[in-house]
Amino acid sequence: MSTTSNPVSPLIQPLGEMPPDSVVFGSTEAMRALRDRLSKIAGANVPVLIHGESGTGKDIIARMIHASSPWKTGPWVKVNCPAIPGTLLESELFGYEKGAFTGAYGTKPGRVEMAHRGTLFLDEISELDMALQSKLLQLLQDGQFCRIGAQEDKKVEVRVVCATNRKLEEEIANGSFRSDLFYRINVVNLHMPSLRERAADIPQLVSYFLEYHNRKFNSRAVHPSADLMNALKKYHWPGNVRELENLMKRYVILGTEESISGDLRPHEQDFFSADISVDGPISLKKITRQAVRELEGKIILKVLQHHHWNRKQAARALNISYRALLYKIRDAGLPSNRAPRRPQPGETVSHTIAAD
Ligand SMILES: Nc1ncnc2c1ncn2[C@@H]1O[C@H](COP(=O)(O)OP(=O)(O)OP(=O)(O)O)[C@@H](O)[C@H]1O
Ligand SMILES: [Mg+2]
Repeated sequence: MSTTSNPVSPLIQPLGEMPPDSVVFGSTEAMRALRDRLSKIAGANVPVLIHGESGTGKDIIARMIHASSPWKTGPWVKVNCPAIPGTLLESELFGYEKGAFTGAYGTKPGRVEMAHRGTLFLDEISELDMALQSKLLQLLQDGQFCRIGAQEDKKVEVRVVCATNRKLEEEIANGSFRSDLFYRINVVNLHMPSLRERAADIPQLVSYFLEYHNRKFNSRAVHPSADLMNALKKYHWPGNVRELENLMKRYVILGTEESISGDLRPHEQDFFSADISVDGPISLKKITRQAVRELEGKIILKVLQHHHWNRKQAARALNISYRALLYKIRDAGLPSNRAPRRPQPGETVSHTIAAD
């Protein structure tokens, strides 16, 4: 067995630019807990598994782990597993010896070796096939691995950090991920909260991205209005911080609130993507009619609330006849006609409909 030295390679990437810690962590409880955990585990050479939805900052956190670890002066090697075709991944990760396969004209070290005395970041770990999962397991167990075509194992010292946006427990249940590997990489796990769970941090992120992209694009976009900020805070952010950053970039470049406000549709209107079972026969007509009814009901409710349940005013605002509104109210299953009462300031509006 030989111990690897640290060859200089273009595979070792620079850590790259990162937002300041105060921006990355914001001030919500979930992020404070994450920061605490990160500071405790950064210095211990144990594998870390980072999981969370796409765009929540797993990459940033992995780089932070490296930057605050004792191996920070060593290499940072990131492997984006799905980006490397399956057949190449083994040689990319573990390297090969001359003549190991057709086309192996020389010896090539893999990224595992490149990461010696540094951090190996395996992004989207669920994409590794079973054979590579076994080789990774060996690496995590005793620090040893074998280049393709080599006679003997090599030994490396690497800190392994993995990331995934899939539920690995489900991958284990369906037989595509080894449970023993899961326990090895999951010694410490960090969960990245979605942006929905940390909506209180949105204003700070908005200010940061506004300033950052104004500088980058030499623009002078002004801070979003209170209305737009409200919409940003209420939006459900399926693409998390990445989506917010891209939206702010567009805002800075195009310079108008209209250029982004259309994207901030409330979550409730996303019924089009609702779970529709396609196992049995489905009626497109029925589903569409139901979706339109639901949407109408929500709009009518909103307008009625706005007009303190005055149906004549609401019908005018909706540009439909009074009779049509009464019919739609019934059809949408909204509450029936009751005594009118203007809500007091600060009072939650009830669902009773005013006599006009
Ligand atoms: N907490 C944060 N503070 C500032 N910027 C962030 C934060 N989280 C994510 N970003 C920004 O959002 C983008 C996506 O972040 P990152 O690549 O770390 O997400 P990810 O969780 O790895 O996503 P994926 O699962 O799609 O790979 C980056 O441009 C990053 O700078
Ligand atoms: Mg990522």
